[in-house]
Amino acid sequence: MADPSSKGVAVTPELRQYLVGHSLPGSPVREQLMAATLEATGDWAIMQIAEEQGPFLTWLARLLGARRAVEVGTFTGLSALCIAEGLAEDGRLTCFDVNDEYVSVGRPFWARAGVADRIDVVIGPAAETLARFTTDEPLDLVFLDADKGGYRTYYELLLPLVRPGGVVVLDNALYFGEVVTGSTDPDVVAIREVNDHVAADPRVEPVLLNVGDGLLMARRR
Ligand SMILES: C[S@@+](CC[C@H](N)C(=O)[O-])C[C@H]1O[C@@H](n2cnc3c(N)ncnc32)[C@H](O)[C@@H]1O
Repeated sequence: MADPSSKGVAVTPELRQYLVGHSLPGSPVREQLMAATLEATGDWAIMQIAEEQGPFLTWLARLLGARRAVEVGTFTGLSALCIAEGLAEDGRLTCFDVNDEYVSVGRPFWARAGVADRIDVVIGPAAETLARFTTDEPLDLVFLDADKGGYRTYYELLLPLVRPGGVVVLDNALYFGEVVTGSTDPDVVAIREVNDHVAADPRVEPVLLNVGDGLLMARRR
């Protein structure tokens, strides 16, 4: 009999397409944006969210009825596009990134998908820009996908702005499986620390999902 503790499946490219093909369809602009990102950034395109995370973020925004969302780490805008597509009609996504060149790749695609008017971008080091950030309504959804060493600061700055029942999502929570190796890579150490911090945080209900490179989801109590 199969060992129940070995349940789970490695995601091959074929399975990835299967996952996406059986999830809510997003705008066809997503594929165009992925192609443009590859052309503009080459190997850095790996920084985009995993393709199957896209429908998940859209679905999560819909599930939460999200009207106010924040993203830290926008790159060329794929995750922002996916979140924005899930927002309510009058919803707003505020994106924080340090690099306007990357974000500029994505802007025309946000427009093509009809969501550009839902997205604001704040350029600068997020620890500084978030410290000045205010919102007219509590946040429903936060997505963290910037420098790993900054996650804990971003989490602490944003969680007080999240409504009860709202969710903070931290990407790369498994860091390619390195969280359970002895790796001393600073990014891995930072991810382990923030995972431990969130898992022990009495203000939230956490669940760590094996979607893409791992999504740590913290629902505010
Ligand atoms: C993994 S990429 C984000 C990928 C994006 N979510 C997507 O789906 O395409 C990380 C981004 O974090 C940004 N970043 C790195 N350090 C930052 C900082 N201190 N403040 C704000 N953004 C930062 C980088 O410029 C980069 O665009």
